[in-house]
Amino acid sequence: MAHIDMRTAWNQVAAHYQRRHAIPTDSAHYGPWAPLENELRLLGNVSGRRILEVGCGGGQCSIAFARQGATAAGIDPSDAQLDHARQLAAQEGVAVEFVRGAAEDLGYFADSAWDIVFSAYAFQYVADMPAALRECARVLQPQGRLVFSLDHPFRDCFFDFEENDVTLYPARSYFDHSPMTWTFSDTGVWMHSYHHTLAAWIDMLGEAGFRLVRLLEPAPPATALDEIWPYDDPLSSLRHIPPTVIFVAENAQ
Ligand SMILES: C[S@@+](CC[C@H](N)C(=O)[O-])C[C@H]1O[C@@H](n2cnc3c(N)ncnc32)[C@H](O)[C@@H]1O
Repeated sequence: MAHIDMRTAWNQVAAHYQRRHAIPTDSAHYGPWAPLENELRLLGNVSGRRILEVGCGGGQCSIAFARQGATAAGIDPSDAQLDHARQLAAQEGVAVEFVRGAAEDLGYFADSAWDIVFSAYAFQYVADMPAALRECARVLQPQGRLVFSLDHPFRDCFFDFEENDVTLYPARSYFDHSPMTWTFSDTGVWMHSYHHTLAAWIDMLGEAGFRLVRLLEPAPPATALDEIWPYDDPLSSLRHIPPTVIFVAENAQ
């Protein structure tokens, strides 16, 4: 597998990502088709809580937490994503600390410094997930909450990595844990992401000292599916695949 520097890759796609998704800052989100945190309420009332966002990208979720009265910080390896986050926080007039770094090393933050660790659609880019989960447990208070979303692992089966495109048949085994290599949307920038089965995620959480509280697989709204895969589209049976999984876990240490 050719080496891809993921910081460089995210620096290259950051402007495209921010333009394409134009993520709002009034609520934290869990992914393109998932209900917002303001609806799901998986974090409870965040006012007065200390929240660290891992893989914060352009900072929208951290900014939403700060707007709702939390003390928020975000960490991400990409300078371009962090530049966007800092500009957005300044525009919105909220104080959020944005730090450059990766999930596998949260050494900038002290032990037990946070009530909640949150992450949206970033953990699939983390190469050493067991190390990242151990770091999340370390920086969380005992009984603190870890809430994160990512591409549903079943979805990885319906991407043909040789063709670099979605497929109607399961082109990749659900049980194949090798890294995935693909180009990011229409940017031509190569990326790695990492596949773990749901069972592997649950085991990794347990091994890092977390107790799983909930696992959510939100169904996308029909209106969104009609736009992307209308019934007369040859790929329309991809409507049947869950796009997102959300984990809610508690630091059992
Ligand atoms: C799909 S974006 C999501 C960003 C943000 N959470 C959002 O919802 O827009 C994935 C982010 O993960 C970050 N990332 C990549 N590798 C990472 C790592 N090892 N640790 C933490 N974040 C990482 C990328 O820089 C990128 O900003």
